[in-house]
Amino acid sequence: MLQKVIYLFVLAAVFVSCSGGKTKYRIGVSQCSEDVWRDKQNAELRMGAYFHDNVELKFAAAYDSDERQVQQIDSLVNDGIDLLIVAPNQVSTISPAIDRAYDKGIPVIVFERKTSSQKHTAFISADNYEMGHVMGDYIVSRLHGHGTVLEIRGLEGSSPAIERHNGFTDAIKNAPGIKVVASLQGDWTEPTAYETTKQWLDNNKEVRVDLVFGANDRTAMGARRAVANSSLSTLHSSLFCGIDGLPGENGGIQLVRDSLLDASYIYPTHGDQIIDLAVRILEGKPFDKETLMMSALVTHDNAKVLLMQSEELMKQAERLDLLHDKADKYLHELDTQRVVNWLSVGIIVLLAIVFILFYLYHLRKIAIQRERVVNTLWNLRPEDVPIVQESSETQNTPEVAEETEDNVAEESEPAAVSVFITRFKEVVEARLADSDISVEDLASDMNLSRVQLYRKVKTVTGSSPVELLRTARLNRAYQILLTTDKSVSEVAYAVGFTAPSYFTKCFKEEYGMVPGDVRKN
Ligand code: FRU
Repeated sequence: MLQKVIYLFVLAAVFVSCSGGKTKYRIGVSQCSEDVWRDKQNAELRMGAYFHDNVELKFAAAYDSDERQVQQIDSLVNDGIDLLIVAPNQVSTISPAIDRAYDKGIPVIVFERKTSSQKHTAFISADNYEMGHVMGDYIVSRLHGHGTVLEIRGLEGSSPAIERHNGFTDAIKNAPGIKVVASLQGDWTEPTAYETTKQWLDNNKEVRVDLVFGANDRTAMGARRAVANSSLSTLHSSLFCGIDGLPGENGGIQLVRDSLLDASYIYPTHGDQIIDLAVRILEGKPFDKETLMMSALVTHDNAKVLLMQSEELMKQAERLDLLHDKADKYLHELDTQRVVNWLSVGIIVLLAIVFILFYLYHLRKIAIQRERVVNTLWNLRPEDVPIVQESSETQNTPEVAEETEDNVAEESEPAAVSVFITRFKEVVEARLADSDISVEDLASDMNLSRVQLYRKVKTVTGSSPVELLRTARLNRAYQILLTTDKSVSEVAYAVGFTAPSYFTKCFKEEYGMVPGDVRKN
């Protein structure tokens, strides 16, 4: 019984604690790389998710490794994500993993870098061909249509590298005075750009370079370091252009403002926009299959203003972040408090149930013991009662009698009960032949008031004094019938009944037979 109650209680608690929760969308984010640009985007993704209280993000960064990214996508899918956001490291290498996710019915958003597979739900990015082209046009005009350019491309198989290169190449086609002295392979990182440029400079000491176009700002800065370190640095009074145009400390915008870069191009991160798209897809709302983000060229003319604006925006974002942290902390405390409250309520209810059950069990045990004692004593003749011998004092003074019987009622100990019952039985037996006997008479024999007697007899035996008197009369009648030849009427009068017919009725109720049947057995 107790086990069942605890089980039900635990079930109820689990049900209550679970039923409050809203279903969460689990979104997996597979980033091909890890760098300042990705950091900014991840922060925006988190911030975007924060505005949808039913979104949970799982991040994985492949650190430019195809193999690692494929594994990470598979494991995100196995973890049971509801949607995949992926920036594939290279066009064709990641496609099989993306296809597997898509074939399992998981919506896929490809962002920023393209895949060779058509199996995706939506694509979102800035236009990389366009930015290569705009940068090409800018370089042509910056060099007044004449000069030499060293190009350092991004990671070979990645779509932005291919598209930026194509855009740039197409733009300078129309400027015959611009000569690309070399187009070197990079991998988006500063150290590789540095090494590649250094090596090229060492092998081409006589070639003058007017401008370096790096596929991103980090690449342009790597090349700049190599040129600066070169023994021929005076020969190359080069300009450096890149792409990314990040705001903030040492971001592309600041580098342009400080003339370390000649130009950059803002490559938007917009993680919040990507999350909004994901949620639209998950909620079955209409969405654009392809989204092109707006972007802009950063030059010395606008860098200062852009930087000021971006700094203001960053401050706002920091404030939002702070607010976010505070809200998170508050929600966390609230959650903890809720759990603690539930636990306390649970423990209290459980203890109360256990206590009540034990109490009921204890009461039942006492009742059974008392019933046994009462039955035994009431059905025995007084001289057969073995249990308790009252001291002479307890029988004589009313106060002591009162005290003893109080104990009977309050302690309900079998021993105390037996004292009381034995004494009450003696009183009843002594008086049962008297048809005029009243409860008051019995009470005064017990040195109690009528009300006291009634209360105590009822508490101890569960029957009233009158009922017990009647039972005693019928028991005595049964004995007389068995042991004498007296008529039924004589027996009735002998045990205090005034009407034999009423005696017969009561006898039948008690023993299930009429008095005359006693002798037939
Ligand atoms: C960041 C990054 C950017 C670059 C882009 C190309 O990981 O390397 O610097 O513009 O990826 O996908």
